[in-house]
Amino acid sequence: MKRLTTLLENNRAWAEQIRKHDKDFFTKLSNQQNPKYLWIGCSDSRVPANEIVGLMPGEIFVHRNVSNLVYLNDLNCLAVIQYAVEVLKVTDIIVCGHYGCAGVTAAFKKMKLGLIDQWIYGIGDTIERHEEILSHQTEVETLRRLVELNVVEQVRNVCQTNFLQDAWAGNQSVSVHGWVYSVGDGLLRDLDVVVSHAAELHQVYRRALERVHKKTV
Ligand code: CO
Repeated sequence: MKRLTTLLENNRAWAEQIRKHDKDFFTKLSNQQNPKYLWIGCSDSRVPANEIVGLMPGEIFVHRNVSNLVYLNDLNCLAVIQYAVEVLKVTDIIVCGHYGCAGVTAAFKKMKLGLIDQWIYGIGDTIERHEEILSHQTEVETLRRLVELNVVEQVRNVCQTNFLQDAWAGNQSVSVHGWVYSVGDGLLRDLDVVVSHAAELHQVYRRALERVHKKTV
């Protein structure tokens, strides 16, 4: 029988380390979670949500999938957003892409990798929608712009869910942000895409596209 001894040992050491700083940490957490943030990021092993933003268990609600995609027919992602907004009442939702995202590259190069091709079809739509922005560049730069555009599009998708629309209609304070993480230096880039009200969405989206466009000329 194969046992993942190292991981289990690591876990014991990790829990011990936390208890050293705060002996009641896990007891307090077991009663409730009260995160202020929802993170929607890529499944990529190099982009671990909590570590990147220096948050402890209990501080950030996390949804990850390949290429941080938000489809309005994805029950999994929608359930996470609904619970985060309506039950946990998070104040901020972060959609975080990352440069060098294999899903984005696969979609751009129309690689045939199996079922995953169907998952990333939304990136193909983004490529078609923004063909102008994505032309006249080196492939490396094009892929970086596409990672950014994918985040902008997913921010828009989050904002268009009933949960966000209803929250804003009821004056609930919740903002949606677009960030990109760089695996190469460990740093986050704020794309300056922040939507805090339904009425802002169109303008924030348009300005974000303009900014990405400027990087290409
Ligand atoms: Co990725």
